[in-house]
Amino acid sequence: MSVDLVLKDGIFIENGRETIRSVSIESGKIEGVYKHGDEPQYRDSIDCRGLYVLPGLIDIHVHLRDLKQSDMEDYETGTMAAAAGGVTTVVDMPNSDPPVLDRKTLDEKIARSQELSYVNVGFYAGIPSKIENFDVQMLRDILGLKVYPHAPLDHDVVYTPERIRECTKLAVASQMPLLFHPDLPPDNKVPKDMEEFFLSHSCEDEVKSVQSFIEAKIEYEARLHVCHVSCAATARLIYENRAEDTLTSEVTPHHLFLSGGDFRHDYGVAKVLPPLRSPYDNKMLMEALCKTWAIDCVASDHAPHKKWEKTAPFLKASSGIPGLETTLPLMLTEVFEKRMAWIDYLRVCSSAPARIIGLETKGILTKGYDADIVLARIQEDTIKGNDFFSKAKITPFEGRRVLAHAVTTIVGGVVVFDDGEFVTGPGIPGKVPVQKS
Ligand code: NCD
Ligand code: ZN
Ligand code: ZN
Ligand code: ZN
Repeated sequence: MSVDLVLKDGIFIENGRETIRSVSIESGKIEGVYKHGDEPQYRDSIDCRGLYVLPGLIDIHVHLRDLKQSDMEDYETGTMAAAAGGVTTVVDMPNSDPPVLDRKTLDEKIARSQELSYVNVGFYAGIPSKIENFDVQMLRDILGLKVYPHAPLDHDVVYTPERIRECTKLAVASQMPLLFHPDLPPDNKVPKDMEEFFLSHSCEDEVKSVQSFIEAKIEYEARLHVCHVSCAATARLIYENRAEDTLTSEVTPHHLFLSGGDFRHDYGVAKVLPPLRSPYDNKMLMEALCKTWAIDCVASDHAPHKKWEKTAPFLKASSGIPGLETTLPLMLTEVFEKRMAWIDYLRVCSSAPARIIGLETKGILTKGYDADIVLARIQEDTIKGNDFFSKAKITPFEGRRVLAHAVTTIVGGVVVFDDGEFVTGPGIPGKVPVQKS
């Protein structure tokens, strides 16, 4: 027998330790993992000596924009950023223009994405103000339902406890996880200084929001996922309510590694929701991720905006940070500086996010799983927004020292990105839409 491709003699993590292995790929799946010399015959091979062979990142929180916001990002640039960042699966958020509240908009996004994408792309849908108008035709092509209490997709709705319960019931009836941005409904006062902005998105608000969603989750036995946890107190609340897989959560690299005090200037480069918090929160979020497992995974919340929206004075600037091209370098730096164990890296970047959204054949490099793989190299470098493939090039990580980057990205057994260039695509590699297995 001869397989399609063998990744030969790379550094492979087995039982948490670095060892030398070859990974063989057949028909888009991993055919086996072999010791040197035991590999099957192959039609093609890649010499992986000196490279880490890792599962591609699964980023379950990404805004790829497109449609009326393609000046911020589109499926082509967004998924190029993913591939260049070693991310092989992204899940696109519904707060686009128009928002994903009906089958027609979802179809437009799927069509654009099928034509333009370089990686696997999954989707979430929002919930219309009248729950009975929810379009069940969307269910077969989405991975979850997402709501934004501080900025509802349908403008005439307020996230009262009653609304939260209705959304939770819908998620249960739809057999979908309910994802939410933890914050309270807006008080509709325009903040007059930075202080007021931070006060209206406080840790107290984040905790209160999570509390009310957890109450509804318990009442209806729902599957709840908390997006971008930013406060130590929120992680603690989640920890206290952990119940095997029915309550999950994510943290972004910017909430792990940056704090508000790092950015004293008055422009929007580091403006994001939830806001950057304190060094204490950074520390406790890392503990929640690696020690208590209150937080399951890392997600970038890649939120591209136009240049002028990020260089504007803080109050006028847009919230959001591009993250697809910085997650892998930042997280591998934690590993190489011995602050994070390999098993934690593999769990938080790939296997846990796959499990959260029900992708049973992704996130692990083992026989029978999808061949979504990144080859990474240890090399000291600094983050430069101008090198991003994303249209959004302004990052609060500008100039930060990192120790690794993606060299080659393989999606469904197809080499997409290699040594700074795209060799396949768009529209060829990957599955769109990604569906639950
Ligand atoms: C996101 C965006 O720009 O779409 N912005 C952000 O600051 N995180 C929205 C969101 O994730 O809440
Ligand atoms: Zn959000
Ligand atoms: Zn708030
Ligand atoms: Zn987001």
